[in-house]
Amino acid sequence: PTISDADYDRLFRELEKLERAHPRLASQGSPTARPGGEALDAFERSTHLAPMLSLANAFENVEVEEFLKRAYKALDRREVDLVVEPKLDGVAINLVYESGRLVRAATRGDGNTGEDISENARTIATVPLELRAKSPKLIEVRGEVVISKQDFASLNTEREEAGQSVFANPRNAAAGSLRQLDPQITATRPLSLYVHSFGAAEGAGFERHSEFLAGAAGWGFKVFPTARRCGDLETTLAHCHRLAAGRDSFDVDIDGAVIKVDRMDDRARLGELARSPRWALAYKFKPRQATTRLLDIKASVGRLGTITPVAELEPVELGGVTVSSASLHNIDELERKDIRIGDQVTIERAGDVIPQVIGPVKGKRRGKRRFKMPAKCPVCGSKVSREEGQATHRCTGRSCPAQLKETLRHFASKTAMDIDGLGQKLVTSLVDEGMVRGFADIYRLEADALAGLERMGRRSADNLLAAIEQSRSRPLSRFIFALGIRHVGVTTARVLARAFGDIERLRAASEEELLALDGCGPEMAAAATSFFADPANRKLIDELLAAGLS
Ligand code: IVH
Repeated sequence: PTISDADYDRLFRELEKLERAHPRLASQGSPTARPGGEALDAFERSTHLAPMLSLANAFENVEVEEFLKRAYKALDRREVDLVVEPKLDGVAINLVYESGRLVRAATRGDGNTGEDISENARTIATVPLELRAKSPKLIEVRGEVVISKQDFASLNTEREEAGQSVFANPRNAAAGSLRQLDPQITATRPLSLYVHSFGAAEGAGFERHSEFLAGAAGWGFKVFPTARRCGDLETTLAHCHRLAAGRDSFDVDIDGAVIKVDRMDDRARLGELARSPRWALAYKFKPRQATTRLLDIKASVGRLGTITPVAELEPVELGGVTVSSASLHNIDELERKDIRIGDQVTIERAGDVIPQVIGPVKGKRRGKRRFKMPAKCPVCGSKVSREEGQATHRCTGRSCPAQLKETLRHFASKTAMDIDGLGQKLVTSLVDEGMVRGFADIYRLEADALAGLERMGRRSADNLLAAIEQSRSRPLSRFIFALGIRHVGVTTARVLARAFGDIERLRAASEEELLALDGCGPEMAAAATSFFADPANRKLIDELLAAGLS
């Protein structure tokens, strides 16, 4: 996308308003006349049995009130059963099941015809190939393909480490993954499906949408658990607001609430417009974008020595938190977006993902100075290098404290050894105080010394030691991931753990043995063998085993 969703929605509304005021000037090819998107040519086209419509948007409470009033009037009643669900920010998919078997999967495309992505859909574990329980003769099951926030973060880390471009957000990552021409690539991506509606159906006989959701769950689909039945404006709005307030607590991005008329006979009476049905409405949450001044760009040293430009921003409130720094990923990204120091920039925060700089605000440029990658590491002074064809610069130092801190932080992180309490601040103090020089030192920490650290205290020290103790028995895959080997992300670590069963066998493995595994490429095999061949790393693992890790 070249503009933000919020900007798109605003422009779309303006266009709708203009077309209403001047209907004669509305063109036939107007975006308001089509459900959105275009089918591309690389995949076979697939025409949906029933069109995949869009949803009308509401940004204010009063628009929900108007929607309900219209429904009451059309149904000639003063109440109507409604269902409120989270609006998942993913990629729409249409799955055709005949006698309970998946026969076709397609993207939405222009609403009538999408792309046949059957082979890719079959790689998604949450897409049942056969429906459990009694299923209709024919049904188009529709839902959203998403990537969870946590999986998205690991996916981007893996890509960054492999020198590949990162995805802007989970939705783009899901869309890109679904539209791979090679299903094997799709299979490696952490996609999952949530079902929210259906199209054509024969022999289904649902009287209510809520019945369909329950039915879909029975067939083996994942259905969002918070679908709620309500009736009047007050409870409907209350539920929308509750979803908005809790949006960060969801593991997937949600960008609104969908209000749907529950009864199928009511839906039939309300009917549809060209683009969207009259029986549903999307209540969009406030965007979490803001604009602010880019004060400076600093080079920050990460784990594995990757040097990333980090934006220092004039503090600005964004979705309830004050943001003063944001990631700029890599120099190519900076250049592509033509971001200069001093610019007015748009920043975005999606869930608990680190804030990102989307780009300069058009027509408001003030900055002239461009960021230059330093020739020497800003922390340890070693040479900075960039490998052929890679997007990332690296510090070549072997004992750079910045790298050590990031390596330790990674080791202790939730997806790795999950040592609760060992976060960035504590790691910094432990390294700066010389208490930790490597992973094994973590397992030698003592309560007295810890309690003496600033902002620590006896209780926190004891809690930390208990968390460290628990981490001794993490599964092998987490341990492999925690080691921080280049190109070995969560998924690869699982493959390695399954293939070798213990660390001794893994570290004795040859490059050929690694290459023979499904999902292990030459870069990873080379990185892993050189990691285990390095005497410093051999010592590190010996020390960890000696420290009692099982
Ligand atoms: S119902 C007639 N329910 O939002 C529309 N859609 O902007 C039937 N979406 O194309 C769709 N979460 O891909 C429905 N809980 C939900 C949804 C949802 C996300 C997507 C869907 C749709 C788009 C409309």
